[in-house]
Amino acid sequence: MISFPSFCLILTILFTKIPTFKSQSSPPSFSSRFLDSVLQDYAFRAIPTHRPKTGVIYDGNVPSNLTGSSVSALRLRTGSLRKRGFNGYKEFDIPKGIIENPYVERVILVYHNLGNWSEVYYPLPGFLYLSPVVGLLAYNAVDLMGKGLPELDLRAPEDPILIKFETFRVLPDGVSPVCVFFDLFGGVAFEQVLNGSVCSAVTQGHVGIVVEESSAAPVPSPARVPEEPIAGGGGGGGGGRRNKGWWVGGSVAGGVLLAALLVVLVLWVRWCRGTKRIEKMKDAAERGVPLAVAAVGRAEVPVAMGTRTKPILETEYVS
Ligand SMILES: *[C@@H]1O[C@H](CO)[C@@H](O)[C@H](O)[C@H]1NC(C)=O
Ligand SMILES: *[C@@H]1O[C@H](CO)[C@@H](O)[C@H](O)[C@H]1NC(C)=O
Ligand SMILES: *[C@@H]1O[C@H](CO)[C@@H](O)[C@H](O)[C@H]1NC(C)=O
Repeated sequence: MISFPSFCLILTILFTKIPTFKSQSSPPSFSSRFLDSVLQDYAFRAIPTHRPKTGVIYDGNVPSNLTGSSVSALRLRTGSLRKRGFNGYKEFDIPKGIIENPYVERVILVYHNLGNWSEVYYPLPGFLYLSPVVGLLAYNAVDLMGKGLPELDLRAPEDPILIKFETFRVLPDGVSPVCVFFDLFGGVAFEQVLNGSVCSAVTQGHVGIVVEESSAAPVPSPARVPEEPIAGGGGGGGGGRRNKGWWVGGSVAGGVLLAALLVVLVLWVRWCRGTKRIEKMKDAAERGVPLAVAAVGRAEVPVAMGTRTKPILETEYVS
């Protein structure tokens, strides 16, 4: 029989570790901001240094370690961009009224199409990409040889920037895709798809069309089943009868028990985290269990990841 405090600790680890694992394994080696700076360099190289033209889309080359993605550069006078906008920069229709901050005379709009690298640099657990992730970033055009340049702050205060996806995967009936927008600061927002394949944005960043993974497989609960055996062992008393319920599997009674148990578990975990967290940290530290300490330390991270994945949306977009 596991003692109640250790049970809490195990549950806490379980609940904090699973989401952390996925998100933590990618960013250190595949940082999207590092990618932005690599692609800025490669996009700028596409612009001829001798008499570069404005209003011309220059397609660049990507390094071999990014084969499958593409990059382009478009140099514009900010006055003309503001007055006229620019339609048809790949997927992007840029409206008039665009504002860059700080003010520069000419701007280079760098376009990214991440192709099969989309999931690698913009992982979105629980969702499938139906389109590649494409990006639009604005830089000062004054230094064509510049590397690691900071982005300008680009906004569309009047009409939004439209992103028109031509190719994306065909959907099974009844599945509703959503636009996902990533700003340059790690923010993620979901928005409605317009006219079947158009997304909109009011600032620079990256955009893709996604669909909830669970809408492809309508029953989301099986994913959580692996947690149950531990819960059964720790739950002690009533565990035996509930175990039978799971093994019957499809039975209604099993489902109800499972749901009830999950609710109890969630409440239990919250209670553990809320009231016992500091105690657990101390306990674990004194006992010198390195795994536990690491897990509790990481417990800070899922708070941020929670906003990134927005689990609430799962119910919102199920149709
Ligand atoms: C890919 O190659 C380029 C050029 O060799 C290099 O600068 C970059 O760090 C490499 N990695 C990524 C993820 O772009
Ligand atoms: C994307 O495809 C290219 C070949 O077209 C391949 O070299 C590259 O490894 C692929 N990238 C990923 C993340 O699978
Ligand atoms: C959607 O389609 C309608 C009719 O074709 C068009 O008038 C409208 O501008 C489109 N909206 C967007 C955001 O593309």
